[in-house]
Amino acid sequence: MRNILVTNALPYANGHLHLGHMLGYIQSDIWVRFQKMRGNQCHFVCGSDTHGTPIMLKAQNAGIKPEKLVEQMSQSHRDDFIDFEVEFDNYHSTHHPLNQEIVEQIYLKLKASHLIEMREIAQAYDPKAKMFLPDRFVKGTCPKCKAEDQYGDSCEVCSATYSPIDLINPKSVVTGETPIQKNSEHFFFKLSKLSEDIHKWMKHTKALQPEVQNKLKEWFEFGLQDWNISRDAPYFGFPIPGTNEQKYFYVWLDAPMGYIASFKDLCNRAGIDFESYWKKDSQAELYHFIGKDIIYFHALFWPAILNAVNYRTPTGIFANGFLTVNGKKMSKSRGTFIAARTYLHHLKAEYLRYYFASKLTPRIDDIDLNLEDFVQKVNSDVVGKVVNIASRCAGFINKQFNGVLASHIQDQQIVERFHAMHEEITQLFEKRDFAQALRIIMNLADQANQYIDYHKPWQLNKTEGHEALVHDVCSLGINLFKIIIGYLKPIMPELTLKAEGFLNINQMQWAEIPNLLFNHKINAFKPLIDRVEAEKIELIIEETKKMQTEAMSVKETQKAQVTKNSLNIADEIKIDDFLKVDLRIAKIIEADHVEGSDKLLRLKLDLGQEQRQVFSGIKSAYSPEKLVGKHTVVVANLAPRKMRFGISEGMVLCAGEGDSLYLLEPDEGALPGMRIG
Ligand code: MSP
Ligand code: ZN
Repeated sequence: MRNILVTNALPYANGHLHLGHMLGYIQSDIWVRFQKMRGNQCHFVCGSDTHGTPIMLKAQNAGIKPEKLVEQMSQSHRDDFIDFEVEFDNYHSTHHPLNQEIVEQIYLKLKASHLIEMREIAQAYDPKAKMFLPDRFVKGTCPKCKAEDQYGDSCEVCSATYSPIDLINPKSVVTGETPIQKNSEHFFFKLSKLSEDIHKWMKHTKALQPEVQNKLKEWFEFGLQDWNISRDAPYFGFPIPGTNEQKYFYVWLDAPMGYIASFKDLCNRAGIDFESYWKKDSQAELYHFIGKDIIYFHALFWPAILNAVNYRTPTGIFANGFLTVNGKKMSKSRGTFIAARTYLHHLKAEYLRYYFASKLTPRIDDIDLNLEDFVQKVNSDVVGKVVNIASRCAGFINKQFNGVLASHIQDQQIVERFHAMHEEITQLFEKRDFAQALRIIMNLADQANQYIDYHKPWQLNKTEGHEALVHDVCSLGINLFKIIIGYLKPIMPELTLKAEGFLNINQMQWAEIPNLLFNHKINAFKPLIDRVEAEKIELIIEETKKMQTEAMSVKETQKAQVTKNSLNIADEIKIDDFLKVDLRIAKIIEADHVEGSDKLLRLKLDLGQEQRQVFSGIKSAYSPEKLVGKHTVVVANLAPRKMRFGISEGMVLCAGEGDSLYLLEPDEGALPGMRIG
């Protein structure tokens, strides 16, 4: 039995998961389920990556604490994982005190080994926001190709790399101010000093895919740069000990340590021997599943740090390619930037798990989700081939043979052909070549169907004296189905669980897959999975587009509305027409929900000499508590209107429409009852 620890990159807790994220998590989950089925001791840990400027600013904009944002996102990620059947043994957080302890320990060890150095560097600084700006928070014109609106680290048009100060007309993304240069002391991890160690590790390790190994070589040839592991306050992260909360650890320093913290948390709860997994000469295996964009951190910095503090290094770092949809980068406007949850609103996770598995290899090429191919492939493979075997055989067994399978094998050869593939399929799963494994498994499914086609039990059944053959053929069909389902278990756990129920067997272990059932009672067959309806894809795209429109920033919505309205100015009127409208200042003294209405609020207005009740359709934009005490403008001579909920005696003025409503407020000092004109 092997002792295995598997991690998947910790999702950044500043937004919801999309199908691109799910690719890697589904891949690692399949591999872990396979290892567990083989009887290995395999632990699968993950957690939220919680620190850094993007989370800090996003929380600020939402008016909540970063801890709160992280908590909300973490919950949303966990829900997505559960519904995609990605089953971690522990889900932790890099903001947890346990992680802080580990980070500080490792940092102090690095420091004691003279691997931390202070250096003063100049950085872009936003004088208005009073903060240093990460490269991605400065935008401007590319100094090389003059493309506008490029990030501070590289140009998406000509791929030039530079630093934010090189941009023409640089602007802070936070405030729009022109950033200035400001000096500040920083903590550098002396990677250059470890060059030799890393080189040695890199040459001997089997942990890296060939593509990754090549990348590392390139970086080496370029020369290893020391790595800045500190950030200036304000920053959401762990303060660096001894800096009076003026300096924080850079998110990418503490993030991978979150793997250790998550595992330690699991050990504490489950009584696992933590040391035996992380000590230098550990015999346990350690695997990190990541996406290809974060190879640098995992294949270079991470082993260098682990080495330097005398921890074990990874057995394997497995990078996956990026997900494209219909051959293109996922796009918000095309509706292909599909949130994990949006997919789940319409389709079962297992369809996607199957499709991803059919494309996943040990290589790091990008993987395409072709939506038409997805529907077609899942329907033809899972429903048309696999489930079909059972549905063709089960009826005969149940109706004619009391649901009991035959006592011997009708066709030894086909069984041998199935058994002959067991080792190869096992090796392919081990190597993460799920695509090739599925090709073989589907070939077995084809063979099983051909076998049934050849004997045609539905015809045999009509002629007398063939009962025994019908029994034998259908029993073998069910047994072949059992083997195929066994191999699909890591990929489609829910489908297989149902199939095991139908087969009336315990949860299969990997080694039991080839075993056959004789004189065994099965249960009634119920459809195990429905076909994917192509219309669901349309609904997913539509929902994605709709979310995109709704997510358009308030600013954009405002802008869009202003343009729309200015194109549509109402007919001209005379001043007398205008003066017919009696506008008054009113103070909102009460505001309540209206039972039975999802649009209206009931307002009580003070107009100085009198009070009025007005129903206003602003519930989508304002909560009643926020309105009480505000001054606004009311049309005071509007004919009273009888509504289902009572009489409305006037109308308050608002700009905008839909959820983007803005109640008009007079300048300070205006008193209830004052006439406007
Ligand atoms: N927080 C870091 C990881 C820290 S690990 C110590 C991070 N988070 S992420 O939320 O941006 O990404 C989570 C995982 O999803 C990463 O492995 C990332 O490479 C992967 N992917 C993000 N977008 C992806 C696609 N479009 N396609 C495939 N994988 C993608 O990176
Ligand atoms: Zn450029």
